[in-house]
Amino acid sequence: MKRLFILFSVLVPLAACAKAPGALGIVPAPKDVTIQNGSFKVKGAGFNIDPALQENTVQALNRLADDISVGTGRTSSVALANGLTPAAEVSSLKGFFFLCDPALPAENYRIEVGRKAVKVTASDHNGFLYAIQTLRQMLPVANYAGKAEPSGAWRLPCCVIEDGPQFAYRGMHMDPCRHFWSVEETKKYLDVMAMYKRNRLHWHLTEDQGWRIEIKKYPELTETGAFRNGTMVGHDFDSNDGIRYGGYYTQEQIREIVAYAGDLGITVIPEIDLPGHMQAALATYPELGCTGGPYDVWTIWGVSEDVLCVGKEETFTFLENVLDEVCELFPSEYIHIGGDECPKVRWENCPRCQARIRQLGLKSEGGVSKEQKLQNYVTSRIQKYLEGKGRKIIGWDEILEGDLDEGATVMSWRGTKGGIKAAGLGFDVIMTPTDYFYFDYQQGDPEKEPLGPGYIKIPLTMEKAYSFNPFDQIDASQQKHILGVQANLWTEYIATPEHLEYMLLPRMLALSEVQWCKPEKKDYARFENEVRTHQFAILDILGYKHHE
Ligand code: ACM
Ligand code: ZN
Repeated sequence: MKRLFILFSVLVPLAACAKAPGALGIVPAPKDVTIQNGSFKVKGAGFNIDPALQENTVQALNRLADDISVGTGRTSSVALANGLTPAAEVSSLKGFFFLCDPALPAENYRIEVGRKAVKVTASDHNGFLYAIQTLRQMLPVANYAGKAEPSGAWRLPCCVIEDGPQFAYRGMHMDPCRHFWSVEETKKYLDVMAMYKRNRLHWHLTEDQGWRIEIKKYPELTETGAFRNGTMVGHDFDSNDGIRYGGYYTQEQIREIVAYAGDLGITVIPEIDLPGHMQAALATYPELGCTGGPYDVWTIWGVSEDVLCVGKEETFTFLENVLDEVCELFPSEYIHIGGDECPKVRWENCPRCQARIRQLGLKSEGGVSKEQKLQNYVTSRIQKYLEGKGRKIIGWDEILEGDLDEGATVMSWRGTKGGIKAAGLGFDVIMTPTDYFYFDYQQGDPEKEPLGPGYIKIPLTMEKAYSFNPFDQIDASQQKHILGVQANLWTEYIATPEHLEYMLLPRMLALSEVQWCKPEKKDYARFENEVRTHQFAILDILGYKHHE
């Protein structure tokens, strides 16, 4: 019986971590791995940390040391590695070493595992974080939960890993407007983003169905605009569940999330969607609309015809005041200004919008209406305002219709054609095409999965997301304009954190290989095996719901 038990306790951890031969089971797959003979004993190994490391890097290393101590049942103490250079030979060291190497590019790292020491080098916070994520994936899954597993395989194979991302922009989007996510839920979402080496959260903070960011100059925006009188039920646009729904983030909470994300190596890019998708703001300030309202915070999904009246100067004063506070809260280089789905019917019939069109001398020509040109004017004016504050804009691919000023970045969502065109014109691009990266589309048979957008007939599987090639039809000379890739997770039909995670995972792991790996490194069979045999065990121990 005793022998059986020992056999069982050895086999179970191995079975849970079955990895492809010669692979370490790491997602996203590292750029270069050389596996050598021998292994390093983690139990009791001390951490030696370069005194030059940033405080939040040191904190992340302390957490790793703590988790290893609990996991192995033996303390891994933490000390400063004084007087060592990154060139120190691993064979001359004993324990873990984390050393700054300014010669490595941003976000890159190198791990050298010898029999007596592990030497990790990077030049910045993100590089060290990614090395930590890689090490965690090589250890028993207990390390993620700070759980004791003294009998686990606390050994690292001797190897050299040289790694760094293919794209500088590796985004994931979050929609707290259709359904609201608490600070804690947002942090859990950020945690799993960081585990797979993602570095941008696109935070969609304003919508027809709710305004979610406190603006001190306009307290009514959240008093009124953050709450709707019920929500449509299922796909029935004539229904209302009668339950008042809403919420918003205070500026203090926003600062907390921005700092939390920063410690995880993630920059938060806020989106203030304009001039459409503004009905919650119009419900608060009807005078900013073309008809004057009344408007309600929308209780149904879709695209509202009521948009900001851009014939009025007050609208620009409002937007500039909002953006002033947004820029105070978010240090991000980019501010997302939306620009999608802005119907023109109100502008066509609004004396003020038409007066602005005349005053600007805008004419319909070349298939571009004068109202579309009015939207170009809005984009350009807001872009200049933000540039005056040292920021750049990102907009959905509609901003490309008509004229677009130099310096804007286009987020290609209606397929890749907008992105291909934008790159050809010399604009930077983030690829986020619906067919691959709209994670609100079901992963399995839409008839059997929880309710989603009614028009999805074919599942958007993990394999489909994995198959995306960001450079497809992009000329070699224009590939530098593809800043990166992102997936979007709209939440019209997602009302609980469990459902949110279920839609995110495991597809977000496929996204991570598209973002991180060179195309020649991608291999779906290897990736899927790693997800099923190893990554699911990690997600499970951390309590993330995921699709099978
Ligand atoms: C979008 O999905 N409306 C960008
Ligand atoms: Zn108007």
